[in-house]
Amino acid sequence: MTRLIHLIYSSAAKTDFSANDLLALLASSRSKNTAHNISGMLLHIEGSFLQVIEGQEADIDQLFETISADPRHGNITTIIRESIARRVFADWSMGFADVKLAEIDAADGFNAFLQDCGSVMALPPGRAQKLLTAFKDGRWRSRQPRSARADTQVATAAPSVDPLQGTDIAFQPIISASSRSIWSQEALAWDTRMQRELTALDHDAEPLSEIEALARERAMLLSAEPGSIQNININVRPTSPQDAVATMRAIIDLSKKQDVQDRQITLELNQDYLNGDVNSIIAIVQDCKENQLNICLDHFGAGRSGLNQIEMSQPNSIALNAKLVRDIDTNGAKQAIIRGLMQTCDDLGIDVIAKHVETTGEYAWLASEGIDLFQGGLFGNPQLGSMPTTIRIP
Ligand SMILES: Cc1cc2nc3c(=O)[nH]c(=O)nc-3n(C[C@H](O)[C@H](O)[C@H](O)COP(=O)(O)O)c2cc1C
Repeated sequence: MTRLIHLIYSSAAKTDFSANDLLALLASSRSKNTAHNISGMLLHIEGSFLQVIEGQEADIDQLFETISADPRHGNITTIIRESIARRVFADWSMGFADVKLAEIDAADGFNAFLQDCGSVMALPPGRAQKLLTAFKDGRWRSRQPRSARADTQVATAAPSVDPLQGTDIAFQPIISASSRSIWSQEALAWDTRMQRELTALDHDAEPLSEIEALARERAMLLSAEPGSIQNININVRPTSPQDAVATMRAIIDLSKKQDVQDRQITLELNQDYLNGDVNSIIAIVQDCKENQLNICLDHFGAGRSGLNQIEMSQPNSIALNAKLVRDIDTNGAKQAIIRGLMQTCDDLGIDVIAKHVETTGEYAWLASEGIDLFQGGLFGNPQLGSMPTTIRIP
């Protein structure tokens, strides 16, 4: 089966590309891309290239092989290669912008950049757009050796689900600090006796997966109610690769029954209980993206959820694990780790969610490092049966 993918890479010119050279490159690229139904965008900033190419997987891989072998540039670095639901540059066989550093640095350079790029910033928000912005801001350029040329809010109350062996469904808001509003609601399988999220440790796997399936369905129904369109985060805590595939397939099927255009559904993948090869779930992760479902690596930094997972799964977001967040404002080692992680995620267009934030000190430090999405008791506790509508933001 062939998939729609996009591939984003950076490279450094090895020869001096004059304006005419660039135009000639564009003209030939456009005609070849049109023939293969490939669309995309090429940015050139004083010897550094960033290109997005999108199309059928086989066509993109073949073109990238050709481009990689092109002696006119080197240091070719693949930044993203992943499935996409739809093209971002559908109208452009190859959009193009040639930007001078001076223009970017000038006061009105940003505007000039926007004009040069056509409507890049009017693109739907996504990783391609974030990457282009990061490139403009110096990422992927400054890192490369010099080239050879040298130089909310949902208000509907919902009936509580019948408790299933001391379980219920709870919703906890994830807030956006910049917009000071609810960004998404996370659906939680809730242990009413322990007053906390259900874990596989205190419940058999069967009721756990049953209540989680109920939580997903309830969340998707509530989030799509007319007049109360709401982003949701739903948990996927597979015990085996087969379980992961079945659960994610069920969510894809569920989402197909609903119009998910106006809201973002994020699958929080928690691999704490996963026995088996993580690699074998990469294909279903790609299927999710193809179907407009975002992937978040949950408990990031704990257990299996580490740096290599960012490279393998290419998530839309990561959620920091609780231990990393706890007392971050006073712990230098944790601060250094988060700073590095933020840089990595910025460079890759990945959002960072800080969960389990309990104190204003933790919040202030994380916000000052550029984190925008938060969850925790500081902002709002889980609420049984319905989506909370009020939040606190310090
Ligand atoms: C930075 C850069 C970007 C390129 N982008 C494309 C492109 O989008 N499409 C394309 O057909 N060729 C592109 N090329 C040119 C290819 O590398 C190659 O020269 C061209 O496809 C002709 O290959 P062929 O002679 O094997 O058909 C690019 C080259 C460079 C240096």
